[in-house]
Amino acid sequence: NSIENGSFTWSSPSNIALVKYWGKKKDQIPENPSISFTLNNCKTTTSLSFTRKSDNESFSFDVFLDGEKKDGFKSKIETFFNRVEVYLPFLKDYHFKIETSNTFPHSSGIASSASGMSALALCLMSVEKELLNGPVISNAVEKSQENDPYFIQKASFLARLGSGSACRSLEGDLVVWGKHQDILGSSDLFGVKFPHQVHDVFKNYQDTILLVDKGEKQVSSTVGHNLMHGHPFAQERFKQAHENLGVIAEILQQGDLDKFIALVESEALTLHAMMMTSMPYFILMKPNTLQIINKIWAFRAETGSKVCFTLDAGANVHVLYPEQEAAAVIAFIENELAGYCQNGQFINDSIGFGAQLIMKSL
Ligand code: PMV
Repeated sequence: NSIENGSFTWSSPSNIALVKYWGKKKDQIPENPSISFTLNNCKTTTSLSFTRKSDNESFSFDVFLDGEKKDGFKSKIETFFNRVEVYLPFLKDYHFKIETSNTFPHSSGIASSASGMSALALCLMSVEKELLNGPVISNAVEKSQENDPYFIQKASFLARLGSGSACRSLEGDLVVWGKHQDILGSSDLFGVKFPHQVHDVFKNYQDTILLVDKGEKQVSSTVGHNLMHGHPFAQERFKQAHENLGVIAEILQQGDLDKFIALVESEALTLHAMMMTSMPYFILMKPNTLQIINKIWAFRAETGSKVCFTLDAGANVHVLYPEQEAAAVIAFIENELAGYCQNGQFINDSIGFGAQLIMKSL
């Protein structure tokens, strides 16, 4: 193909797991299935510009974050390119300029790997599509690019090879990754949209992210996943996650918020329990994480609210609640929880519907 240069821009959101992925096999295959809410406001926008080069011997690319060159990101992307080259044979034919920015503050403790890797994977898929289709693409075809199941599935497959949970960020509002008997079409290789009708109570569900600790992650997720090898409770945990995915699939259809709260909070604490009981062991919560959890429990007991929390592999707290409770819960967060956040910072987000093609130029 004779395309010399061009660029694509995609935005892709972060996601928050309800049933957690923790532990993987070779080639980024998860030990257990997981399910996440796709977020709406927390996202990465990535532009990928490509220019044909004269040789095809090695990868050639530059990375920019908010307009600043970031050579520190290169090794992660080099690893990613090495893993996906076999599926994207044009990678060594072009020089790439990767320009990326996040809507959430740097080092907020919100991982940008899911949104960043999914956005990059989508840009690369757009290049592939362009090379296969030739340079002339009508608006109609362009639109179908986003809706084409092959396109999304392969982009999710590639995103997984960048960062496991990234394969759950392309679509919304709920995505399952990992083979599970109750989820038709589910796969260890890519994320799929939750295939069942979700109860109205989950429509526009809210997630306020409390920034308890904005520092660098104490334990990278790569190290964390590896700690599940030989972990004394690993097999039980993988079994439990399989069971929990079946249970939450029912809950999401039936809309039982008490059961939802119990399952989601237990999943979060179990993730942290795995890290506390590995060798070496880690405590990723901070004292303020526990203060917040106790405040949420007290608020629920006093008011009957259906607010609950979940956690990633860090100290920040995701506060989840139905849209109709938004005013009351945000007031509670401002009055009682913001004081436990670094500089009082939190981010209001809600369930979103996945990645978007922002721009193409050829
Ligand atoms: O995608 P990774 O390798 O960064 O792992 C993410 C793992 C958790 O965020 C802790 C859980 C999950 O399922 O997203």
